[in-house]
Amino acid sequence: MAKKKVAVLISGRGTNLQSLIDACADERFPAEIALVVSNRPEAPGLERAKRAGAPTLVIDHLPYGKGAEARAAFDAALSKALKEAGIDLVCLAGFMRILSAEFVKDWEGRLLNIHPSLLPAFKGLNVHQRMIEAGVKIAGCTVHFVSPEMDSGPIIGQAAVPVLAGDDADLLAARILKEEHRLYPACVKLVAEGRARLVGDVVEFDKTVPAGAPLLNPRA
Ligand code: GRF
Repeated sequence: MAKKKVAVLISGRGTNLQSLIDACADERFPAEIALVVSNRPEAPGLERAKRAGAPTLVIDHLPYGKGAEARAAFDAALSKALKEAGIDLVCLAGFMRILSAEFVKDWEGRLLNIHPSLLPAFKGLNVHQRMIEAGVKIAGCTVHFVSPEMDSGPIIGQAAVPVLAGDDADLLAARILKEEHRLYPACVKLVAEGRARLVGDVVEFDKTVPAGAPLLNPRA
């Protein structure tokens, strides 16, 4: 089967991009990185893409200005670039922009995000500090199909990690990030193979997906 063309959208360091680059380096992986887009020209993740020989594109959001019209124009430029590159799947990986409902609708079922919490708990920013302050004992990360509301949408997979005594936000973030790097490629694989798909507002898994496959358990 032809490999699915994946675009990874970043704004920063791009360690999740790296995990997808590494997964795609295996010839049996059902996807290839066909484009890396950053809305920030200085995003360090762009170097990772270049090193891997993946095409990069910067669409700087600043010249677009602010407001709904600016957002629509930015999103239209983004969507056009993705379509021109023949993209099948779009993976948000630390892409620090809210996408318009039009964009999300256009890419429905083909747009994935990773978030460093067990959604629907702890959406938004500053997640690790908020989890520590709330005293949660199990944290983790989630890969989901994107719905228009931020950090929402049908869940494809989750990985859990313990929150340990003495953790600060950085320690917890590092523990979760390690699992993000396992979870995102695992979920992209399922979607690229058509074994996990968005049907209405739920994720349907193929019968060949073992129960619990998209769940990565804590390794204490
Ligand atoms: C990750 O924690 C991801 O879950 C969140 O943004 C962070 C991006 O990190 N959406 P990186 O740029 O992939 O290293």
